[in-house]
Amino acid sequence: MSLSTQDLKNITVIGAGYVGLSNAILLAQEHLDTKVTLFDINSDRIAQLQQQKSPLQDKEIIDFLSNQPLNFFATDDASHIYKDADVAIIATPTNYDIASGKFDTSSVESSIRSVREQNPSVPIVIKSTIPIGFTKNIHQQFDENIIFMPEFLREGQALYDNLHPSRIIVGATNQQTNFVEKLMALYKKASLEEHLECLQMPPTEAEAVKLFANSYLATRISFFNELDSFAESNQLDSQSIITGIGLDPRIGQHYNNPSFGYGGYCLPKDTQQLKANYEGVPSNVIHAVVDANNTRKRFIARQIIDKNPKSVGIYRLSMKKDADNFRDSAILDIINTLKQHGLTITIYEPAIQDNEFQGCAIIADLNTFKQANDLIVANRWHDELNAVAKKVYTRDVFGFS
Ligand SMILES: NC(=O)c1ccc[n+]([C@@H]2O[C@H](COP(=O)([O-])OP(=O)(O)OC[C@H]3O[C@@H](n4cnc5c(N)ncnc54)[C@H](O)[C@@H]3O)[C@@H](O)[C@H]2O)c1
Repeated sequence: MSLSTQDLKNITVIGAGYVGLSNAILLAQEHLDTKVTLFDINSDRIAQLQQQKSPLQDKEIIDFLSNQPLNFFATDDASHIYKDADVAIIATPTNYDIASGKFDTSSVESSIRSVREQNPSVPIVIKSTIPIGFTKNIHQQFDENIIFMPEFLREGQALYDNLHPSRIIVGATNQQTNFVEKLMALYKKASLEEHLECLQMPPTEAEAVKLFANSYLATRISFFNELDSFAESNQLDSQSIITGIGLDPRIGQHYNNPSFGYGGYCLPKDTQQLKANYEGVPSNVIHAVVDANNTRKRFIARQIIDKNPKSVGIYRLSMKKDADNFRDSAILDIINTLKQHGLTITIYEPAIQDNEFQGCAIIADLNTFKQANDLIVANRWHDELNAVAKKVYTRDVFGFS
């Protein structure tokens, strides 16, 4: 079955998280002459969006919602939103399910079902990250009007990355090329990039691009983290070694700053999913990367324990400097290990309004926090730690001055 080639004017996006919200705003820009309906089951999130407020910490999203003319409508009522849609974009979560050892894709499947109940022929674009082989199965279960378009944004700069995409990849069969060309044209027009690499490939290959891209990033992080564990264990200067090897242009001076481990929503779950997809295929690297990240977190916890602190202050739970998102942050596992060793822990995290997080006291005032602890642990260095630099433990070798 070939897809409809009608113009993509009426767009419905499902899921108002980093992916859904940034795509919805991107495609609602006035010059595109589109109308975007954004649906989410989270009524609080929708209520915020209806008041032009961003539920996410993202500079461009906040700016566009309050300052840019957008043809954009947020709703928590899905009863009629797919009937007249020209395309439905799914951006719901695919969390890693420990019991099955792979992604839970139920929110994607239930979204497809809801769309099809109202509209049997509207093209569906899956933006959520899915297991390799998922779209092929979905074609058998539903129909072939469903394509996969991997999303490569970074949290905290979700809309920026969509305005300046590294590439556009669409996973679709050859019968779907007419629709794919329209979709690519729309995304090109929505971006601020003049030259944009656009690739069409079969859905299974596109699914592999997404999981292998994130697994490469996890591998690179793990490599520099393991290098840093070696340097710290042998009292070597990690920064010099990393700078020295990065002068080889094949390696480069980027994405090489040691951390407490990779984390965030995507890298931990996407590496686990790729590991599951390798079943029956001889392999070592992907398994090793997952293991290396756990080893790194245990190593960091051991370094902290060995300093015999009276009280440990965790400076920020987020992975990145000035971010407010700490989903699956490496420091969370480190805190658990420290707690198991009976260490007293307090946390400074302005993104948390409560007095407590996972059994640890939150200290809202930074100065009180700094005075209360004899060891401060910071995944990323910040100048506001300058005055207490001597009691900070970090492996942020490029941020720490
Ligand atoms: N966050 C990233 O950096 C990133 C990057 C690339 C790809 N992805 C992938 O995109 C997908 C979404 O990620 P995200 O970070 O935007 O997630 P998110 O958790 O920020 O947002 C998901 C949203 O979907 C809503 N939702 C859940 N079930 C729903 C349903 N049945 N119908 C409607 N709304 C529903 C939730 O309420 C939430 O608002 C995931 O598969 C993720 O792996 C994420």
